Amino acid sequence: MLHGNAKSPRDLDTALRLGVGRIVIDSPSEIARPAAAIGPDGHQKVMVRVIPGISAGGHEKIRTGTDDQKFGLSIADGYAQHAIARILGQPQLELTGLHCHLGSQITSVKPYLVAVRRMVGLMSRLRDQHGLVLPELDLGGGHGIACRPGERALDLMALARKVRTELAEACATADLPVPRLIIEPGRAIAGPAGIALYRVLAVKHTGDRVFVAVDGGMSDNPRPALYGVRYAPRLIGRHSTAAPARVTVVGRHCEAGDLLAADAELPADLRPGDLLAVPVAGAYHLSMASGYNLVGRPPVVAVGDGLARLLVGRESRFSYGAAVG
Ligand SMILES: Cc1ncc(COP(=O)(O)O)c(C=O)c1O
Repeated sequence: MLHGNAKSPRDLDTALRLGVGRIVIDSPSEIARPAAAIGPDGHQKVMVRVIPGISAGGHEKIRTGTDDQKFGLSIADGYAQHAIARILGQPQLELTGLHCHLGSQITSVKPYLVAVRRMVGLMSRLRDQHGLVLPELDLGGGHGIACRPGERALDLMALARKVRTELAEACATADLPVPRLIIEPGRAIAGPAGIALYRVLAVKHTGDRVFVAVDGGMSDNPRPALYGVRYAPRLIGRHSTAAPARVTVVGRHCEAGDLLAADAELPADLRPGDLLAVPVAGAYHLSMASGYNLVGRPPVVAVGDGLARLLVGRESRFSYGAAVG
């Protein structure tokens, strides 16, 4: 599936060349372009990403189910319905179903059930208007996971059970066949598989606070600075018997907002040279990492069965220069 609110002509060409399964149309300007790119005899399956008008997710900046954000086409103002009618007028495009993605870090099943009702409602209206029976329904991802001990995660078994029941009931009421259900888990798969490691560079007291500065920060993980995600770093590599202390773990970039963990509990004898491990760093870390302050992205190492293998080398000023030069 090809997603995105702004697909470049190159994205589209590459996806078509590689035989992409479905293009998820996110704006009206994306209807004519694939139709033209595949030519009059071509054929491409597409879905339409609709905004169901549901607010869910861990923070305002990762909520994508409401009308006041950039992803998808709104059911409420009719742009989704309008785009669907236009797609039906393009013989090369086969609309296989509707798509929605409510947001990220959703810890309750309820918003998904509301989404099922709204999506089936739209499918039923499309059947009445166009005689269209859509065989697929994609409910996106957003399955919330715990980043710190004690945090709530989405109950995946309950999600599977209740969504299927809700879908069957909604379709029976609307007299529609039950579509093939698609979900797009992201963080729930990749997040727990990764750990970020930092070297402590400096420890200092300022007023009541203890700042622990490490050799990374918002360049490898912008999420605490962007929308207040909270992590629980741990000391690794040595055993400390010191009492726990509240510290603020910060990065090395030239922003006062360059935080990694605002209220971490770490041994009071933490010192330069120590290693900190941040669990649940497998999703939205490396893919969001940037060259902020030209510090360079960290390496990625695969670890298993007592073996370690370098997957991505450390980015240096030299490799950045070579890449842009
Ligand atoms: C369309 C779509 N599907 C699925 C996902 C995965 O979301 P998550 O990692 O929160 O499960 C995203 C994340 O941005 C997305 O945009």
